[in-house]
Amino acid sequence: MAAVRDMFDLSGRVAVLTGVASGIGKATARTLAAAGATIVGGDLDEAGARATATEIAGDGGTAVAMRTDVTRRADVDALVDRAASEFGRVDVVGNIAGVPHNKMVAEVTDEEFERILAINLKSVFYGCQAAIRHMIPQGSGCIVNISSGAIDTPAPTLACYGMTKAAVAMLTKTLATEVGRHGIRVNAIAPGMILTNFSRHNFVDEQGNVVPERLEQYHKRASALAPLGRAGDPQDVANTFWYLVSDAASFVTGQIERPNGGVSMPW
Ligand SMILES: NC(=O)c1ccc[n+]([C@@H]2O[C@H](COP(=O)([O-])OP(=O)(O)OC[C@H]3O[C@@H](n4cnc5c(N)ncnc54)[C@H](O)[C@@H]3O)[C@@H](O)[C@H]2O)c1
Repeated sequence: MAAVRDMFDLSGRVAVLTGVASGIGKATARTLAAAGATIVGGDLDEAGARATATEIAGDGGTAVAMRTDVTRRADVDALVDRAASEFGRVDVVGNIAGVPHNKMVAEVTDEEFERILAINLKSVFYGCQAAIRHMIPQGSGCIVNISSGAIDTPAPTLACYGMTKAAVAMLTKTLATEVGRHGIRVNAIAPGMILTNFSRHNFVDEQGNVVPERLEQYHKRASALAPLGRAGDPQDVANTFWYLVSDAASFVTGQIERPNGGVSMPW
């Protein structure tokens, strides 16, 4: 039996991640790099993605970053292809980039609907297709898609966001049934309330500055909802991601993992 710590060692693996400029993507990139993986990171925010790569290099890891608009198939293909051409492998693909959307169904415009589908759903489909193009010939690989706790807790204004994330969960499960025989595992993470730029609109003013009272309110709401009594940190999600792509999860596929402090507990 492999030593327990070896199961979490990602040395020699190459991980392609989107959304690495901020929040969950950045924490995941730094965590996988610290575990030994080489990171190929993309984000619409090129400067932010490069900053993450620089931090990883500063910690002694290896990372490259490039501007990637996940709504463009060509950008997603280029990111995944870069891992193969520059580092020779594609072991992990994490489809992480995403945006919030809060509006009552009656008020959603066609443009908004198309935008949220493009950023949160079609991008993940492109990422999965690009991943398996490399992973099937390789005979191995792990895909992790970021869904959301919104799939478990329908609430006013969450229809569009929740639909995209429920579709991501279904894509994950279905793809897992298609590619398991090629040695590829496909899982999703449905995070609860995590403190990132994504949740900032809950506690900033019009200028984008944090309002301490609103931040305290946000924490209070998160604490009241969660049996563990707190909002999540990007590292909570990064740790779940790390587990899923490690050998410790070698029998885990088609699952929706929920780092959510216990807010919802589906079977
Ligand atoms: N924070 C939460 O509470 C929470 C909860 C559940 C799920 N999620 C999901 O987690 C994922 C990461 O969110 P986060 O909380 O880290 O938010 P974040 O805003 O901190 O990071 C999102 C990143 O995605 C990038 N991005 C946005 N549009 C893009 C595009 N078109 N192409 C490439 N990159 C793009 C942004 O530049 C940013 O760096 C998202 O899919 C989000 O839906 C977040």
